[in-house]
Amino acid sequence: MILKCPHCNKEHSIDETRIPPNINKVRCKYCKKLFSLADNGSEEEHDKGLRRIAVSLSKGGVGKTTTAVHLAHGLALAGNKVLLVDTDTQGQSAFMLGVKPQAGLTELITDELSPEETYIQARERLWLLAGGKSLAGVKRVIDRKDFGAELTLAEKLAPIEQQFDYVIIDTSPGWDPLLVNVLFYVTEIMLPVSLEIMTLQGLVEFLKSISSIQKYRTELGLKYIAPTFLDKRVKNSSGILGKLEDLYGDHVCTPIRYNIRLSEAPAYGQTIFEFAPGSNGAKDYRELVRKVTGNPDLFK
Ligand SMILES: Nc1ncnc2c1ncn2[C@@H]1O[C@H](COP(=O)(O)OP(=O)(O)O)[C@@H](O)[C@H]1O
Ligand SMILES: [Mg+2]
Repeated sequence: MILKCPHCNKEHSIDETRIPPNINKVRCKYCKKLFSLADNGSEEEHDKGLRRIAVSLSKGGVGKTTTAVHLAHGLALAGNKVLLVDTDTQGQSAFMLGVKPQAGLTELITDELSPEETYIQARERLWLLAGGKSLAGVKRVIDRKDFGAELTLAEKLAPIEQQFDYVIIDTSPGWDPLLVNVLFYVTEIMLPVSLEIMTLQGLVEFLKSISSIQKYRTELGLKYIAPTFLDKRVKNSSGILGKLEDLYGDHVCTPIRYNIRLSEAPAYGQTIFEFAPGSNGAKDYRELVRKVTGNPDLFK
């Protein structure tokens, strides 16, 4: 991108992917004065506003982490600055991205480190605030609060989030204080529903829990249902898909097919876009990114 110094009008050519997310001022190398990045660059870039999306469904093994990681990386490949937040004690997001963070969400919530020290750059335009075992202790910290416990995550992310276009949150299976915090932070929910193990019942229960939170947060909405593990050979798959479409119409995304390459990629620390860019898994997740951005021409 080209930045123009408002003081001396000299132009600077800068690789925007190299600007750390917590930097909002730069110094002109000609006149040595500071100027704000926010007044520069394309208008469109700054008008979009931050979107906060949780990938959630209380069941395990439905493709939550796979979906959160690929949505986050896909959005970054499409030119957005993305923060992926892993709120699961298994810490699978870091593994899938092939990175070994020294800190993460625990240190952010317990104030052990400054906010900028808790997340790491995992790819161009993609940063990770990692989860992991230590989050178990964090849940107890949240539990012990007398007041405002459900807003802990929102308060801690506030000083960081404005640097990003998207905050994508991967969640753990089960209903716990951290998930409640996530639902008090995001405005959009994406529910992966496995077409292999029928989870409509789980879905209905999760929706009931969401509506109990929506009473206090009207801006929280179920935005996307992402059917996963579509296998045309399994008869039931298309039946469930039809049922989902009847119930949720436009909220239902194009399904993610069962694709063995998706399960192989994490062992190489690569996303499907790197590991097998021509695979059905990569195609399906690109389609999901098109749906979320509302841009049908992306990656074409
Ligand atoms: N579309 C898919 N096709 C094949 N394997 C998949 C697909 N999506 C996810 N997997 C694999 O299934 C397992 C569970 O997925 P994961 O995303 O970890 O689920 P969750 O986070 O809901 O527990 C992982 O081993 C993952 O690699
Ligand atoms: Mg997971």
